[in-house]
Amino acid sequence: MSHPSKPGPLRALRVIAVTSGKGGVGKTSLTVNLALTFARQGRRVLIIDGDTGLANVDILLDVQPRATLRHLLSGQASLDEVLLESEHGVTILPGSSGVAELSELSAGSQRDLLEAVDVLGERFDTVLVDTAAGIGSNARFFAGAAQEVLVVATPEPTSLADAYAMIKVLSRRCGVRSVGVVLNQVVGRDEARDVFERLESLCARFLPVALDFVGTIPRDPHVREAVMAQLPLVTAYPACPASQAITRLADDILSRPAPTGPDGRLQLFWTRLLADAADASRAEARGSV
Ligand SMILES: Nc1ncnc2c1ncn2[C@@H]1O[C@H](COP(=O)(O)OP(=O)(O)OP(=O)(O)O)[C@@H](O)[C@H]1O
Ligand SMILES: [Mg+2]
Repeated sequence: MSHPSKPGPLRALRVIAVTSGKGGVGKTSLTVNLALTFARQGRRVLIIDGDTGLANVDILLDVQPRATLRHLLSGQASLDEVLLESEHGVTILPGSSGVAELSELSAGSQRDLLEAVDVLGERFDTVLVDTAAGIGSNARFFAGAAQEVLVVATPEPTSLADAYAMIKVLSRRCGVRSVGVVLNQVVGRDEARDVFERLESLCARFLPVALDFVGTIPRDPHVREAVMAQLPLVTAYPACPASQAITRLADDILSRPAPTGPDGRLQLFWTRLLADAADASRAEARGSV
């Protein structure tokens, strides 16, 4: 098993949310393997497991959470007790409560949370947020608060329709202006380009959002084998086609400038998250959603 390289100097913070319209398209696999690839390149990587329903980053990395965000908020655990260090060189913040619950925190608890998470910004420079699928979930809050959003889809028509629905919500409700698209479980490259162009032309007609074709990952049986073995794909099968594709994606993502410049702070992400969740719960109370 290859060991992660030593972390490099702290760079400008990037917060990247990985989301999708349809479930089971490969968000968690992509998040975990991108995270490991970034760590190998010297980044200091934190994964926030924002999939509060079936959180499974911990399963893929074979670590057992001792405590979650909920314990941090209730004062039952410190940040260091909540954070999980994986042997693969990345750290995980296990999620627990819904974002709506976060918005119900008292002003004092919200301040405590923001102070606690801001400390993370001094330790990590690359934050990946794995979200649940679907427009009605927490995903839209996490994706709306992140600087960069990757929407994962497979080439099937249903996945594409759901990806469009997700992008529409991100654009209309969260003010997201650009979205990176990753097509996963792709069989032919031409097929992928075709699928992306269809999605892009649909978005161009109806939404003020720019789509960026970040790349494709082929359908590859090694992905499932790695999941079964509870080993990250890029560690277990570094030379397989899906690992190679993820490594290329990671290079490509890091070679682009971060969208909001060098002074992003993690506190900003959480401030936006709390504000959006509070807005949504107020709108719900008025019956306007
Ligand atoms: N490129 C691929 N080739 C083959 N199988 C894949 C590929 N990517 C993902 N899978 C398989 O698809 C299944 C779902 O992957 P994963 O759990 O990452 O999806 P998800 O989008 O996070 O799902 P959920 O919406 O339930 O959180 C897994 O069993 C995984 O092994
Ligand atoms: Mg998942």
